[in-house]
Amino acid sequence: MPRRPFWIDTDTASDDAVALVIALRHPDVDVRGIGVVAGNVPLDMAVQNALYTRELIGRTDVPIHVGEAAPLRLPLETAQNVHGGDGMGDIGLPLHGRSPDGDDAVDALLQASHDHAGELTLVTLGPLTNVARAIERDPSLPERIPRTVVMGAVADHVGNVSPVAEFNMWCDPHAVDAVLASGLSLEFVGWDISRKHAVVTPDAADELRAVGSPIAEFCIDIQAVVAAYCATDTKLDGFDLPDPIATAYAIDPAIATDTRRLNLRVETDSALTRGMVVMDLLGFTGHAPNALVVTAADHDRFMAMLRSALVD
Ligand code: BDR
Ligand code: CA
Repeated sequence: MPRRPFWIDTDTASDDAVALVIALRHPDVDVRGIGVVAGNVPLDMAVQNALYTRELIGRTDVPIHVGEAAPLRLPLETAQNVHGGDGMGDIGLPLHGRSPDGDDAVDALLQASHDHAGELTLVTLGPLTNVARAIERDPSLPERIPRTVVMGAVADHVGNVSPVAEFNMWCDPHAVDAVLASGLSLEFVGWDISRKHAVVTPDAADELRAVGSPIAEFCIDIQAVVAAYCATDTKLDGFDLPDPIATAYAIDPAIATDTRRLNLRVETDSALTRGMVVMDLLGFTGHAPNALVVTAADHDRFMAMLRSALVD
């Protein structure tokens, strides 16, 4: 079977890097390009983190394009408190001096949508700024992309950046608004899925490290700051991997054990609920569904895919 063409948009920090490892090493997937966006860290750092990751896994053939440096209308507020000052756990990696392949991730995505019209799977692992800009430049983009998997939002309305909002949606809510209205065929994997089904406990982390490859070590070590944040702030037994489980689902939809078609809208204005993606779970609005939302996932199946990505 031919490998499926993917495009990954990422604000590369610690969990994004693991997601890239999964996608770039999966035999069924052909990642045609990576667009980088500001989010977890400033844009230039996210670019360097992506470049380092692809080099480590020997995939310098996959082009990396520089995208938007700030959200559409709001100033960038990063998540370096979660992922570390360098976004990669502050473990001393040499994250500088590499050169990206292109300086316009928005145009590169549009080009890929033409090159692979009707076939491309778009996976977004950061704020939706690049995608919103692409739709702005060419509103016909959704006609060429049959499937867009978004890591973002929370179906149980328990947030990780505010009481009700998830970081990627909170960072650039105006981009979320544009994407929800665009006609893209959207599938959401929220932070609730990560918190409930993608937590790597300390024992599981030891088992993954025991795979014994440099990539396994890298994927665990760069979670150092996230693990501390999870212990104090999100109160998880270990660290969670939102972008990796979203990517795993994009590759293998059977990772989802329950999904719902729902109408989604995002709050752009309120200071209290900025970036909250309101999911009409009981159909109050009568508005047609505009997204498929993953509401439960298979932890073991996810862990198996993660583990196999780490084996040399
Ligand atoms: C999302 O926000 C970022 O911190 C992670 O990389 C992930 O994309 C989780 O809310
Ligand atoms: Ca991310």
